[in-house]
Amino acid sequence: MAKGARADVLVIGGGLIGLVVAWRAAQRGLRVVVADPAHGGGAARVAAGMLAPVTELQYGEEPLLRLGMASNERYAAFAAELTEASGGHDTGYRQCGTVAVALDSDDRAELRELHAFHQRLGLDSQWLTGREARRLEPMLAPGVRGGLHVTDDHQVDGRRLAAALVLACERAGVLLHRAEASALLVEHDRAVGARLSTGETVGADQVVLAAGSRSHLLPGLPAGVLPAIRPVKGQILRLTVPAAYRPFLSRNVRAVVRGQHIYLVPRENGELVIGATSEEQGYDTTVTAGGVYELLRDAHELVPGLTELPLTETAAGLRPGSPDNAPLLGPTALPGLVAATGHYRNGVLLTPVTGDLLADYLATGVTPDLAEPFSPTRFTKVPA
Ligand code: GLY
Repeated sequence: MAKGARADVLVIGGGLIGLVVAWRAAQRGLRVVVADPAHGGGAARVAAGMLAPVTELQYGEEPLLRLGMASNERYAAFAAELTEASGGHDTGYRQCGTVAVALDSDDRAELRELHAFHQRLGLDSQWLTGREARRLEPMLAPGVRGGLHVTDDHQVDGRRLAAALVLACERAGVLLHRAEASALLVEHDRAVGARLSTGETVGADQVVLAAGSRSHLLPGLPAGVLPAIRPVKGQILRLTVPAAYRPFLSRNVRAVVRGQHIYLVPRENGELVIGATSEEQGYDTTVTAGGVYELLRDAHELVPGLTELPLTETAAGLRPGSPDNAPLLGPTALPGLVAATGHYRNGVLLTPVTGDLLADYLATGVTPDLAEPFSPTRFTKVPA
């Protein structure tokens, strides 16, 4: 759309979630503007890109499981469509499956419980002995005591995905403003646009707030409309597997080591991502010696041979956590303001379904059933 024209939709935040909403909304014929100082940045640049609705399942999060499964089922077609829409940009989507393994008897008991939970929910999850796990992944430590094979938990490359979404947005006519939204504009109790850091204002019929862990900090946002979205820091490492050592791992590998979740995501191009710490200490994204040490120590217990590999990158990002760790999807209590935030550990996984659900709402004004449990108004305080 042309610069200066009034938009149907202004998206605040050009990370994966903001971009996918913009792209899908533009495909529905809406005129869309996205405001972000660095489109395609944010948590996706750090994330490992594990698509793990089953192996990351937490007790009591069945509605989130349904949303995650719905997104996972869409991923192959979504990645193929996005590659085409971006002019051939590969997203690194890989159907590789995941093994979750146990290193001691406590971990094994925990995994057994998770397996029983999977079975109660009818999920595809197969129990493995230690020997069977090592047959699948020969680089696993000899001490592995057993595990789970989940054939439908896959991976995608968050950086490639974000780059493809930027291209697809541009090709779909989305206007990408390289500027921060400095204030939400509200008139007569309705969101009507935003002022940008450049001084410009963008008027829009609907404003989508997709600014991750900074969503609730937007100046001008009336009190009580959005809960605080807490930043949960994740430090992550990238190693490179030389061609002569490949395949080093053939699928995602995860474990709980001393109570800490660790995962290894092997990409087809030889990159091996090791994640992630989980730290609640505000907006700090410093990579620390302690964080790197713990990740390497735990990963080494799982796959001893990885200490030979070059360490090519360390990084830290912020997961946007809502009060109940589930996303906020759809209209808020402020007319004209729609939320797409709070995706916490699942932003990459939930990208396709978020795009579809939000575009449906923006185009029709009707909240899709799948989005109902994630209404942002579940946190809105009702006056006594
Ligand atoms: N979903 C992986 C993480 O948040 O670390």
